[in-house]
Amino acid sequence: MSNEKKLSPVERIKTSSDGLRGTLKESLNDAVTGSLRDDDQSLIKFHGLYQQDDRDKREARSEKKLEWLYSFMIRLRLPGGFLTPEQWIGLHHVAGEHSTGVIKITTRQTVQLHGIVKSHIKPTIQAFDTLKLDSIAACGDVNRNVLCSPNPKQSSLHEEIYAYADEISKLLLPKTRSYYDIWLDEEKLIEHSEEDPLYQDRYLPRKFKIAIAIPPNNDVDIFANDIGLIAIIQDGKLQGFNIAVGGGLSATHGNTATYARAATLIGFASTKEDLFKIVYEVVTIQRDFGNRADRKLARLKYTIDNMGVEAFKTELNKRIGFSLEEAKPYSFTERKDYYGWEQCDRGLWHYTIFVENGRVLDDEKVALKTALLELANLGKGNFRFTGNQNVILTDVKAEDKAVVQTILEKYDIIAHTDSASGIRKNSMACVALPTCPLALAEAQRYLPSLIDKIEPLLVKHELAQEDIITRMTGCPNGCGRSAISEIGFIGTAPNKYNLQLGGDYEGYRLNKTYKENLGEDELLTELDQLFNSFKNERTQDERFGDFTKRKYILGE
Ligand code: HEM
Ligand code: SF4
Repeated sequence: MSNEKKLSPVERIKTSSDGLRGTLKESLNDAVTGSLRDDDQSLIKFHGLYQQDDRDKREARSEKKLEWLYSFMIRLRLPGGFLTPEQWIGLHHVAGEHSTGVIKITTRQTVQLHGIVKSHIKPTIQAFDTLKLDSIAACGDVNRNVLCSPNPKQSSLHEEIYAYADEISKLLLPKTRSYYDIWLDEEKLIEHSEEDPLYQDRYLPRKFKIAIAIPPNNDVDIFANDIGLIAIIQDGKLQGFNIAVGGGLSATHGNTATYARAATLIGFASTKEDLFKIVYEVVTIQRDFGNRADRKLARLKYTIDNMGVEAFKTELNKRIGFSLEEAKPYSFTERKDYYGWEQCDRGLWHYTIFVENGRVLDDEKVALKTALLELANLGKGNFRFTGNQNVILTDVKAEDKAVVQTILEKYDIIAHTDSASGIRKNSMACVALPTCPLALAEAQRYLPSLIDKIEPLLVKHELAQEDIITRMTGCPNGCGRSAISEIGFIGTAPNKYNLQLGGDYEGYRLNKTYKENLGEDELLTELDQLFNSFKNERTQDERFGDFTKRKYILGE
């Protein structure tokens, strides 16, 4: 009883929700407000939506005594980030009819649409359903979108490994039919048992994230995930997966109990059966041992640190019924996307398009959205998102390459991709303002203009060709993975950022706070000095992140 009292309020909302239904139907039918009832705002996340409001308009609306301008963000469940051309066309039209029109490619290989008003949620989900797309478990205290490194150079291996992402996503889906019931008007049928041995009625204490990387590329940032799987390849054949657990980047300013953590390598699984058992039981350990009192301390990283890694492994071995094998040697050498054309081992062609901060729209620089629609209408390639917020037009046959090239040229996509600088191509920003309620500062609306000012500094120090992994988030939650970058900007207040340094290029290591609360001029002054010393004092081939760690974080 006393334990129950300590549970966070969201725990009661989950267990009393009748399989995540709550009063969502009633909330949706209430035409008096654009908002949902309080409890339903938590529950709708499990259906892949967040209730938001336009923060730019809050003050004006309040002055006029109007309620805030509520709308919803929907995020698709897209394991491995794959869409057919038909699905892209459908997505394009859904975005136009029901949302702001901007298709946001997220840092976890899926897409989000913003600005969907309450009455449009159901038509949006129904339209996605006709495209065989869903948003189940894309947010909420469950396993979310499973990432899989989309390396176009290794397409046959990729296909084999991508299937794991899809199966793991299905393995960890909640069993409730509430999504079909609420949004797709499916009758609650007796034969659809909703018993859920994995999530029970309490789900997980917090969100859960899984990613699969195929070395040498760590573009999905394995170590930022609750479970990171590293494909072990020998002589071109998949041998199994190394398993890392307990990664997570979020922290809260001023709360020293919270911290970013890079995942710990705990072992190797050679068969699919073993791997799935391990993944499943890591989730059950988190379900049973995770902190349900304080949501800020509820991620698997804290569960593992509280138990200790060895005790965690012992519990895992007990649950899987065998002992984990030793992790195998592997090496990551990069985290970037292979922009432009690449031919794969099956002879197909893949074009990686640069999408600044994942925002697909037509703007003054490039008509990307129109171009992608024309490419989808042509139907000569599929669409695959990367963990770096870009899109690859994949699986183009040799005989179709010329016609695809014509469209890429017609819309200046090639020039747009080729002309972006190293730092811009390796930059990433989260959504932040105006929709994210947690944002303390701008991110995706600001980073492009800050990079405009950083580029001349790099040119001045003859560093224009450097690929420096640069990321900005509007708060320390780290949705744009700013804590695991070479240059990280983490918002602390309007127009103020902590400057983070010392993360590595390959994504094994977190960065550290170098200077706090800097405005734009201060950031640029700092970077100017840092680039200057990097240019003059780096060792041969030393990366910016390794240099800043050596010189400024360790103070060598
Ligand atoms: C306590 C921790 C976190 C909270 C409360 C949180 C909350 C949110 C919210 C409210 C949004 C929606 C923003 C919008 O669309 O307006 C969002 C987006 C997103 N978050 Fe988080 N987040 C957290 C940590 C993380 C971390 C550590 C990652 C990944 C490493 C992540 C990945 C994402 C992604 C991929 C998006 C989609 C938009 C984008 O690409 O920026 N989140 N998050
Ligand atoms: S990092 Fe912070 S500001 Fe950015 S989307 Fe996540 S929660 Fe919002």
